[in-house]
Amino acid sequence: VGTLKESDLKGKKVFLRADLNVPLDDNQKITDDNRIRASVPTIKFLMEKGAKVILASHLGRPKGVTPKYSLKPLVPRLCELLGVDVVMANDCIGEEVQKLAANLPDGGVLLLENVRFYKEEEKNDPEFAKKLASVANLYVNDAFGTAHRAHASTEGVTKYLRPSVAGFLMQKELDYLVGAVANPKKPFAAIVGGSKVSTKIGVIESLLAKVDILILGGGMIFTFYKAQGYAVGKSLVEEDKLELANSLIEKAKSKGVSLLLPTDVVVADKFAADAESKTVPASAIPDGWMGLDIGPDSIKTFSETLDTTKTVIWNGPMGVFEFEKFAAGTDAIAKKLADVTAKGVTTIIGGGDSVAAVEKAGLANKMSHISTGGGASLELLEGKTLPGVLALDDA
Ligand code: 3PG
Repeated sequence: VGTLKESDLKGKKVFLRADLNVPLDDNQKITDDNRIRASVPTIKFLMEKGAKVILASHLGRPKGVTPKYSLKPLVPRLCELLGVDVVMANDCIGEEVQKLAANLPDGGVLLLENVRFYKEEEKNDPEFAKKLASVANLYVNDAFGTAHRAHASTEGVTKYLRPSVAGFLMQKELDYLVGAVANPKKPFAAIVGGSKVSTKIGVIESLLAKVDILILGGGMIFTFYKAQGYAVGKSLVEEDKLELANSLIEKAKSKGVSLLLPTDVVVADKFAADAESKTVPASAIPDGWMGLDIGPDSIKTFSETLDTTKTVIWNGPMGVFEFEKFAAGTDAIAKKLADVTAKGVTTIIGGGDSVAAVEKAGLANKMSHISTGGGASLELLEGKTLPGVLALDDA
């Protein structure tokens, strides 16, 4: 896609779509500012080139104007990170926005109010997109996390603004999630976890065509076990996906992909943080117990396997890591990946939950790349093209 560096920016009004959709607590305090920090390099670059930065984002999924979803609580953090007074508009279109933009000095930053306060945003309404675009000369999309949405501010505006180029974060995400995955240093391993196989079918199928090793963990493994005729107790099973699980196993075989399922699991007597727990062989989960994490033998095998790789992509936790008792598998994988990254392995963490797990383990800056997109990275890994990317110049 077109890159930022090519554009002539001095004095230009740039509509910069970022994904500043950060979690806020009940007191409107930011609980995780990763997405804001990840957006800073592009904003700073534009400021330094003398552009007038008109920054737009959504926050949450509001239905109409909802104070709880205002972008105002983000202003102090943005000011701090950018070292300027960020001006905040009360709207994302209209006269006030036009005035504030016109008065912006070169290198200034104007933050627009939540674009999803208008239903026209998600409808990708052309008139609304035109209004958004009317404030600027050119478009930069750095909102990787929203690139799977064909909305007015991610797709529609490109019809009215040229050039329309990718920001640095967007570029970096694509370099890793598309580039490194298409041309990996080998051996290339994927670790796929998460509770349901149904939400990961696309990812698994797409990755089976690319990887040498596929490691599976998380709740989805019990569907595979049941399909193989194992006793699964009261573990989570998708009964209508048993055949599919077997066909994925067959597919891995036919493609020469080494498929690793956990050989032991930590089971619980109930789905709770304080459940009774014990480790059992994967093939013999006792009646009345449910698997909530991978066991120590599996951790060992997975870790040894990861030592042999050159590229690893991870999507989805190994167990119910929100419960401390069942976080060991996920934590161990996070630590192992930090470890191999230090030895030169390219490690890519894609997807919301595995990112949260890596952050919880305090290892976020120890990986080659941590994606800022949940749904967007999943769709990319499924081999889909993202509308927000497709709309950019030279896509
Ligand atoms: C996300 O948090 O995944 C993105 O910001 C997109 O948000 P959405 O799922 O509400 O479109």
